[in-house]
Amino acid sequence: KRVAILISGSGSNMVKLVESMADSGHPGEAVLVLANKAEAGGLTKAEALGVPVAVVAHKGKTREEFEAEVSAVLEAAEVDIVCLAGFMRVLSAAFVREWQGRILNIHPSLLPLFKGLDTHQRALDAGMAVHGATVHQVTADLDAGPILGQAVMPVHEDDTAETLAARLLPLEHRLYPEVLARFAAGSRGRVALFA
Ligand code: GRF
Repeated sequence: KRVAILISGSGSNMVKLVESMADSGHPGEAVLVLANKAEAGGLTKAEALGVPVAVVAHKGKTREEFEAEVSAVLEAAEVDIVCLAGFMRVLSAAFVREWQGRILNIHPSLLPLFKGLDTHQRALDAGMAVHGATVHQVTADLDAGPILGQAVMPVHEDDTAETLAARLLPLEHRLYPEVLARFAAGSRGRVALFA
């Protein structure tokens, strides 16, 4: 399966996904890393890993123009599966419909709790005893598609949003590759990971 990874920032999840697909026998092949801005740090990491990169800037474009360009690049690369990883643009229903069933995202909360932004602070404010990340299929409803896997960890008394995010990232790096391997192989069933 030809896999494209969409990023906006450091791309730490993208790196782990690409590295996992380098294992022979993995049903996925990383064919493209696409960023919505040229300064995305993950682009240089993707190049270092030998994955073709593309930038489709969103600045100065309507959502439709931006998404049409993204779709064109994905189709040109004959992509089968799209992985959003630290991709900070909300995708329209039209775009999602075109890719529905073939587009995944990782969200740093135990969905359906804490959809949207600032998930770590919101988990702390809610007094959660556990926190985690979710890989889900992307649908038109933000952060609400079918759950494919979750990773969970305890919240410590002295945790801040920063320490929580930092402790969650390595869990994300285990979760996303595991979910992608199963998804690309057409496996059913959800992944449950524990710190
Ligand atoms: C992570 O919190 C991830 O859950 C979210 O974006 C943040 C940065 O991810 N999707 P990355 O380092 O850019 O992969």
